[in-house]
Amino acid sequence: MHKRGDNVLLDQDVFALGRRDFSERFSVSKALYGRSDEIRKLLELFDLARGGEGINVAVVTGASGLGKSALVNEIRRPVQMRGGIVVSGKFQPNSNTPYSALIEAMHQLVRYILTESDGM
Ligand SMILES: Nc1ncnc2c1ncn2[C@@H]1O[C@H](COP(=O)(O)OP(=O)(O)OP(=O)(O)O)[C@@H](O)[C@H]1O
Ligand SMILES: [Mg+2]
Repeated sequence: MHKRGDNVLLDQDVFALGRRDFSERFSVSKALYGRSDEIRKLLELFDLARGGEGINVAVVTGASGLGKSALVNEIRRPVQMRGGIVVSGKFQPNSNTPYSALIEAMHQLVRYILTESDGM
């Protein structure tokens, strides 16, 4: 690549693809790292529940920003592929409503059911 003032001339032999490419938007990778054990465990619990072996409740705990929501989001698709649905709720430390996270999750579930096709 030769540069002459403002004009850039491309030489086919030395032009390296992508050398001047850049994104105008800053974006962070959505990949989740180091959570394969937790994901497997949650999917195992889902499979047990689906197989009729009782109701399993998994509570995801951890400090803010640790990746609880990211973990739950990660199992949405595999659960959906298995015919399930993931609903979630978050316990807010300053909430005055008991069981607020369960209520939030149930709201999501009811909304989902109401928007489902009735098969007609
Ligand atoms: N294992 C991970 N790999 C990649 N990114 C991660 C991982 N864990 C968390 N993150 C990223 O860190 C950020 C915070 O994660 P997240 O929102 O899931 O935290 P949280 O535990 O739900 O926090 P809060 O308690 O405030 O709701 C997100 O952008 C998420 O994508
Ligand atoms: Mg969260």
